[in-house]
Amino acid sequence: MGEACALDCPDKPGNDDGVEVVPRISPGATIVVLMSSSFSQSSSGPVLAAYDDLVARHALTPDPAQHDAAGELDRVLADLVVAKPKRLFGMFEKPQSVRGLYLHGEVGRGKTMLMDLFFAAVPFKQKRRLHFHEFMDEVHRGIAAFRKSERGNADSTDPVEAVTRPILKSGLRLLCLDEFHVHDITNAMLLDRLFGKLFAGGVTLVATSNVAPDGLYKDGLNRQLFLPFIALLKQKTVVADLPSEQDYRRLKFAGQQVYAFGSGPDVQTLMDRLWLRITGGERGEPGQVESIGRQIAVPLMAMGAARFGFADLCDRPLGTRDFVRIAHQFDSLVIDNIPQMDRTRSDAAKRFILLIDSLYDRGVKLAASFAVPLEQLGADDKTAFEFQRTLSRLTEMQSEDYLAKGLRDGASAGTQD
Ligand SMILES: Nc1ncnc2c1ncn2[C@@H]1O[C@H](COP(=O)(O)OP(=O)(O)OP(=O)(O)O)[C@@H](O)[C@H]1O
Ligand SMILES: [Mg+2]
Repeated sequence: MGEACALDCPDKPGNDDGVEVVPRISPGATIVVLMSSSFSQSSSGPVLAAYDDLVARHALTPDPAQHDAAGELDRVLADLVVAKPKRLFGMFEKPQSVRGLYLHGEVGRGKTMLMDLFFAAVPFKQKRRLHFHEFMDEVHRGIAAFRKSERGNADSTDPVEAVTRPILKSGLRLLCLDEFHVHDITNAMLLDRLFGKLFAGGVTLVATSNVAPDGLYKDGLNRQLFLPFIALLKQKTVVADLPSEQDYRRLKFAGQQVYAFGSGPDVQTLMDRLWLRITGGERGEPGQVESIGRQIAVPLMAMGAARFGFADLCDRPLGTRDFVRIAHQFDSLVIDNIPQMDRTRSDAAKRFILLIDSLYDRGVKLAASFAVPLEQLGADDKTAFEFQRTLSRLTEMQSEDYLAKGLRDGASAGTQD
C-alpha cells in the first residue's frame, strides 16, 4: 500500500544496545543489572544525566520542574530496557508496551527539549520521534492508499488494521509524538482504535502537549465518543505537568537582531554568535533528518536548532515535504549565505520560497545572513510575484512579535509537494 510504508520503522528488533537485564524473579521484586555505560556512570539515569550535563555547561538554566520531568523520562527508559524483547528460537518475542509519559505544559517550557534528550538516550533503534500532526498525516495517507487499493475495495479489512500492521511488523517499540492535540472530528474518532492497536502491539507512547488529556478535543462534536481514548491515554501513560515559570523560547529571542547583511568575517562572526546564543553555547554536531524514506544531511544541530548554508537547502533536490519535516524537527534555524536570487538561480529561488513558507507556517525562528538587503533579494521576474510573499514573511519573521510567539501546527506534509 505504497505510502503506508512511510509508517514502518527502519530496523527489526535485536541489533541494539548492550544493555543486559535479569528478568523479574518474583512478583513485586525486580532485580535489574544494567550494563549500559550511560546507566552505570550515573545513578540518576541517562536523561537526567544529559540534562544535568547541559545545565553544568550553562546551555540550560536549571529548572526544578524540568529536572523532575527528566526523572520521569528515565523511569520510562528503564522500563523499556527491562521490557526488551527476548530472542526465542531465533525469533524475537512481541514487544511489550510499557507505561509511557504524556508531558504537558505551556509553550516554551522545554517539553520538546526533554523529549529529544530522552529520544537520544533510548538505546535501541525501534523508535520514532515525529510531530503528532506528521504522524496523523501518515496514518491518513495510509488509510487513503488502502481504500484505493484492490484489497481495500474487495474485503472488509479494517483500514486502521491495515495501517497499524506494518508499524507493528517493523517491531516499533517507542513512538515519541511532539505536540499531541486533537481538533478535528476525524482524528478524534480514529485515535481510540489506532492507539488501542498500537498499545496492544507493544508500542510505548511518549508525547508532549500544551493540554492535559482531559482538555483534548474540548467542546468537540460528539465528544462523548472521544472519552474512551482519554481513558486509554491515562491508562497507558503517566500524565505529568511541566509547570516551569519561564517561556525559554521567548527569552532567547527577546531583543535579538536575527538578520545580518553582507558577507565577510564580520558577518560570519555575527552569525556564529547568534548560533551560540540560540544553542546556549553548544557548538553542535552534524546530523540527519529522516524525511519519507530518505535522510537529509544537517551540517550542525544542537538544542532543537539547526544550522544550514543556503546551498545545503536550496541547491539540493529538496521539496516541500522535506522543508515541512525540517520545520517540525527544529524550533530555530540558522541559514548562512543567502544570495541574491537572479535568473541563474530560479530553481533555488523556488525552493527558498517553499522553505520560507514552511518555516513561517510553523512559526520556526529564523536567523540568517543575506548577501543583499531584503528588497533586493528576489531579482528574477519568473518568481517575482511569489517572492513578494516571501519578502513580506521574511520581514515579519524578524519582528519582536513573531519571535515572541510559540510554534504553530504548520503546513501538512501531505498536502503539497
Ligand atoms: N532550562 C532551559 N534553559 C535554557 N533554555 C531552555 C531551557 N529549557 C528549554 N530551553 C530552550 O527553550 C526553547 C523552547 O523549548 P521547547 O521547544 O522544548 O519548549 P516546548 O515546551 O516544547 O514549547 P511548545 O509548547 O511551544 O512546543 C528551546 O530552544 C529550548 O532549547
Ligand atoms: Mg515543543
